[in-house]
Amino acid sequence: MRPVLASLLALPFLFACSSPQSTFDTAGTEAQAVHILFWAMTIGGALIWVFVIGFSIFVTKIRPNAYSDKAGLRLIVWGGCVFPVVVLGVLVWFGTAMMPELRAEADGPRIAVSGERFWWRINYDTTSTPGVAKGLTRDGVESANELFLPVGKRTEILLGSPDVIHSFWVPAIAGKTDTIPGRVNRLVLHPTKEGTYNGICAEFCGEAHAEMGFRVIVLPEAEYAAKVAAEAAPAAVTAHPGFEAFMANGCAACHSVRGTEARGEVGPDLTHLASRRTLAAGILPVNHETIARFVRNPGEVKQGAEMPAFDHLPQEDIARIAEWLGMLQ
Ligand code: CUA
Repeated sequence: MRPVLASLLALPFLFACSSPQSTFDTAGTEAQAVHILFWAMTIGGALIWVFVIGFSIFVTKIRPNAYSDKAGLRLIVWGGCVFPVVVLGVLVWFGTAMMPELRAEADGPRIAVSGERFWWRINYDTTSTPGVAKGLTRDGVESANELFLPVGKRTEILLGSPDVIHSFWVPAIAGKTDTIPGRVNRLVLHPTKEGTYNGICAEFCGEAHAEMGFRVIVLPEAEYAAKVAAEAAPAAVTAHPGFEAFMANGCAACHSVRGTEARGEVGPDLTHLASRRTLAAGILPVNHETIARFVRNPGEVKQGAEMPAFDHLPQEDIARIAEWLGMLQ
């Protein structure tokens, strides 16, 4: 029994407080407010608990006759009614006082994010509504699984989904907010520190729910603008044997590569695939080997991936496609 108890007690120390996905290491206004509320409630709750337990031991074991019936009744009125009302009242005031700042208007860019099975569609500078119809309207600059934000700006995120409910959460900055088919939810992200943070899906959405991550990269405003401009540019290489194999094998039915004939809207846009930090929504690094592995059999890399396997293709074709995609910086 003792080892079990010891491991349970040691459990909290296994959670690192500073990581790119920690609510304790905050880098945004909303996460900061939640962080303050968390400690206020945890410390306040612990103090009250210690007092109540200590007092109950005092009146039952140490001084059982310390209070007359009348004093006991007063204790119930003050300790059991007045005190909880005051504590809860202060908490309500404390929480609601934080709201106006969190709900303030955006003063930065507007980015549409659609929760897909099982990845994130990102659309910069958009006026469209994400995921209400299958596929976003194409007025923005589309990317996937990487969200760039300008530091110090309040960026409005429009959240949608074409089919099932997901939840958008960047623990260090803000969230969670659901992406719900047929409606648009709004969330304002106000990052206060530059850096790279992890985001995750926080609502069970199917087989690959746990493998639906994304990266949030917070940059100075000028670098953010340069990054979006780079994302808006067409693909770096459009004449390559890998591109021919890509078109011949039907990849363009689902994927877009801007600057080419590939205009599929189902899967992630691949125009700048090689510039991204991860493949398959946060689970693999991007290189020739991982791209080839994913094209050959996505379900083997990530159970539940919607993309079909292409393991019937000759190895050379897969290698050419991976080589070309690996050049799309
Ligand atoms: Cu998407 Cu869970």
